[in-house]
Amino acid sequence: MADNTMTQNGKPSPEQQIELLEKQLIQAQRMAALGELVGTTTHEFNNVLMTILNYAKLGLRHKDEPTRDKALTKILSAAQRAEKITNSVLGLARNRKEEFAPTELVKLVEESLVLLEREMQKYRVVVVCEFAEVPQVRAIGNQIQQVLLNLMTNARQAMPNGGELLLRLSHDPTTGMVDLMVRDSGTGIPQDQLPKIFDRFFSTKDGPDASGKGGTGVGLSTCKDIVDAHQGRLRVESTIGRGTAFTVRLPVHQQAAPTTTVAPITELGIPTQTAKAVK
Ligand SMILES: Nc1ncnc2c1ncn2[C@@H]1O[C@H](COP(=O)(O)OP(=O)(O)OP(=O)(O)O)[C@@H](O)[C@H]1O
Ligand SMILES: [Mg+2]
Repeated sequence: MADNTMTQNGKPSPEQQIELLEKQLIQAQRMAALGELVGTTTHEFNNVLMTILNYAKLGLRHKDEPTRDKALTKILSAAQRAEKITNSVLGLARNRKEEFAPTELVKLVEESLVLLEREMQKYRVVVVCEFAEVPQVRAIGNQIQQVLLNLMTNARQAMPNGGELLLRLSHDPTTGMVDLMVRDSGTGIPQDQLPKIFDRFFSTKDGPDASGKGGTGVGLSTCKDIVDAHQGRLRVESTIGRGTAFTVRLPVHQQAAPTTTVAPITELGIPTQTAKAVK
């Protein structure tokens, strides 16, 4: 039987080749993002270890109680930070399963922040979090984390002289959606470029920056593909000189309604009622 994924001569059609290449590109971007994270976290981990080593030596050198207390307190907080870092990396690994599951966005945001915290400090970006209590969303955690990392990196790159990154979580019960806003106080996007930013390969960056990020033009198109596959929406608002806000809107995870089979009661001579699902 003829394979409908092939052309008549048995080779993939140009459209199929493009589709395949696009899939490989997205995969490559994921791997690159993971590679960057490994670099950042290893560096972070090293910093934490240095703190622990130095304070342990200090504590051993000075026998007086106040100095030892101070050293132990510093060691404790450094170890707690190390724990956070490993949890974030493990979180990424745990979320590997490409399956939709009830997901706590707060956790994903916090884990992403741990991974980019040092980079934000380096570029003098102050991170402000406004998290309302929101229900779990239906999401593939790993993919939404990738969206977040892309949006946060873009935001940071739009603020070359520092600024404010606002992360806001809110919930609209009437629509059953959760909104996650990533807003920067950066350069803004010119009106004529706004319709193009989600196009694959559209980029206004010369190439990777000093941190080795940006310039391919696949970040936002990948974000859009992911959010679309989640039946969500990705919106942007921007004002030149004031900043840009991206909002990821995702559907709340619906609890499966208990399925009860109701026997028809008309046979008993009782008037039929409309059965309603009881939540
Ligand atoms: N927060 C932002 N502020 C200003 N401009 C932005 C912002 N986010 C995206 N842009 C614009 O949209 C373009 C496309 O972004 P996108 O993330 O897709 O690609 P990129 O950042 O250039 O490269 P990469 O694929 O490596 O992320 C950017 O080059 C930039 O011009
Ligand atoms: Mg980008």
